[in-house]
Amino acid sequence: MAKYIINAEKKISKISKEIYGHFSEHLGRCIYEGIYVGENSDIPNVNGMRKDVVQALKEIKIPVLRWPGGCFADEYHWKDGIGPKENRKKMINTHWGGAVEDNSFGTHEFMELCRQLECEPYINGNLGSGTVQEMAEWVEYLTFNGISPMAELRKKNGHEEAWKVKYFGIGNENWGCGGNMTPDFYANMYRRYQTYCRNYSGNKLYKIACGPPDNNYNWTEEVMKIAGNYMDGLSLHYYTFPGGWSNKGDAVEFDSECWYKTLNKTLKMDEFIKNHIKIMNKYDKEERVALIVDEWGSWYDVEKGTNPGFLYQQNTMRDAVIAGINLNIFNKNSKRVKMANIAQIVNVLQSVILTEGEKMILTPTYHVFNMYKDHQEATLLESYIETKEIGLEEENLVPNLHESASIDKYGRIIFTINNLSITDDYKIETGLLGKEPKMVTANILNNEMNACNTFENPNMVNVKEFNNFKITEKGLNFTIPKCSVMRFVIE
Ligand code: AHR
Repeated sequence: MAKYIINAEKKISKISKEIYGHFSEHLGRCIYEGIYVGENSDIPNVNGMRKDVVQALKEIKIPVLRWPGGCFADEYHWKDGIGPKENRKKMINTHWGGAVEDNSFGTHEFMELCRQLECEPYINGNLGSGTVQEMAEWVEYLTFNGISPMAELRKKNGHEEAWKVKYFGIGNENWGCGGNMTPDFYANMYRRYQTYCRNYSGNKLYKIACGPPDNNYNWTEEVMKIAGNYMDGLSLHYYTFPGGWSNKGDAVEFDSECWYKTLNKTLKMDEFIKNHIKIMNKYDKEERVALIVDEWGSWYDVEKGTNPGFLYQQNTMRDAVIAGINLNIFNKNSKRVKMANIAQIVNVLQSVILTEGEKMILTPTYHVFNMYKDHQEATLLESYIETKEIGLEEENLVPNLHESASIDKYGRIIFTINNLSITDDYKIETGLLGKEPKMVTANILNNEMNACNTFENPNMVNVKEFNNFKITEKGLNFTIPKCSVMRFVIE
């Protein structure tokens, strides 16, 4: 029997809702087809946005959406995407499959999407190939309500009132696709570009600097040293590649060894977050600057027969557990991690939604976001679970169980727990300190490790109610089945 202790009297930090954020890039079928089909499409839409996709995303309470990239952001010139659609420039999306980008989805369309989703926009500016003036004017166009050239242009394009835009990224992966810069060069560029991103008309920008990939601690060190005082957030990107960048493996056809190897890789997120925070603290003693994990998720070989530049992949129970683990890690580090954006929202990498023409399916990862949504804006609680190491290879061991717990504004305890074993169920004895359970509800997502939802069988992996628990004097006893993600709410 594994002991699991949750202390309702030990509140740690608020879990900001933006941890449950998403990322949309002009890449493959993410924006076009996946989200935006245009007003004249036969697919039901509101102002060009797919109704089914918008409704599904509202159901998981999407809090924030990042756009337009990714690598695309540092090649994107926002003025190409405003004004009458027939006049918008057509260009090649050089990063992603050489597709024709007709710019029919631009600033107004993105802000309309966020309006429909009722989520915060997070716009990523172009530092890699754009000018300081171009970035400054984008902020002015978006947020200035007075008389100015950009405000006039916005009005001419049909939007009288300025929008509110809080989150603004100054460049993306500038150590790589965003200009191959050294950290000190970027840090100085960051200082310069951000100077001209003004707070207009009561709008207060939350400026996010390009941070490191994975364990590139030198980048964090240099950027924090030079530019730490000028930012609100520093980004971190970490993708889970089962066998490394050059050996990603298949999204669905994988064996038990690969299961544990992948989970071992994904668990490194915690180590990277903690180490980057340690460095940030050297230069930011008040712990003011947040860590923003604005790209994370699994990355496999593209689905056979699809455009290699489109990064389309299926999503299995392995991805559900990857999502469960990472969201637990972000909750546990919520004192400093204030936003995370899974890559990417529809039809690209670890998507919550896949589409094919008018059809849409919800992936196992979607269901995990739905199960975890009650953590949004709740307060992280101190919790501890007894674990043991499991796996098939010495270098790829993982803990058998992974959890996080929070308390919401109604005093309900929410805990989410994952069983990483593909062979064993575990008995759990939960002890609740400072809370007497009156009513408990639970649900579960579990299946074989390779199970996924397809357009032919869209409900193969789905959430079920779970009643097989016993409320005890001290808390709650239950058995967590192998290969599963569970969520409990205790009133
Ligand atoms: O998500 C795909 C790409 O991964 C993004 O465009 C880039 O930022 C990262 O390298």
